[in-house]
Amino acid sequence: MRTHVVDHPLVAHKLTTLRDKSTDSPTFRRLTDELVTLLAYEATRDVRVDEVSIETPVASTSGIKLASPKPLVVPILRAGLGMLDGMVRLLPTAEVGFLGMIRNEETLEASTYAERLPDDLSGRQCYVLDPMLATGGTLAAAIRFLVDRGADHITAICLLVAPEGVARLEQELADIDVPVTIVTAALDERLNELGYIVPGLGDAGDRLYG
Ligand code: PRP
Repeated sequence: MRTHVVDHPLVAHKLTTLRDKSTDSPTFRRLTDELVTLLAYEATRDVRVDEVSIETPVASTSGIKLASPKPLVVPILRAGLGMLDGMVRLLPTAEVGFLGMIRNEETLEASTYAERLPDDLSGRQCYVLDPMLATGGTLAAAIRFLVDRGADHITAICLLVAPEGVARLEQELADIDVPVTIVTAALDERLNELGYIVPGLGDAGDRLYG
């Protein structure tokens, strides 16, 4: 598994405002959307493409188009929904599937309450959207779910990740034979005793949707 922290001043600038507790919900939503588009630019560097020949008004040339089947974008409800528009702005032809997952705030265990994904993901490239990778339970379960359906290339886009979550994913997904990349705006310091990322940005779902 590879973790890619996007090092760019615009990413850091938007993330700083997201972290600020005085940032209101409308601004938080807008900045999440903008930040995801920047992260998606990095996350799609290895999107699959086919070579094509075209005619410009002047000459013949070759280029590339997104390969088929198109990538599958999977926001993890609820907070991942706030990242969907920013992602499909870059990949407008992507298919979208949904996973509803919730973390029990006492046990910190993740459970799935909704699933709307194609049954067969054989050979599909998947982009998972979830703002926070905290203990890693949610993302580990989501990635395992996609791999079990046949996905063969997975990129997760997270606004923030905690070292504990990255370590758990590396351990829990060690047996899968599928490339997994985490693209994030920041690798934060740690988790606190409540399972929140420190310094973090609080509860992304609450800040997006109240
Ligand atoms: C948050 C967050 C992630 C998960 C991360 O969701 O959006 O999905 O927790 O925690 P983990 O890495 O420790 O599993 P939450 O369960 O609060 O649901 P929500 O998106 O509906 O707010």
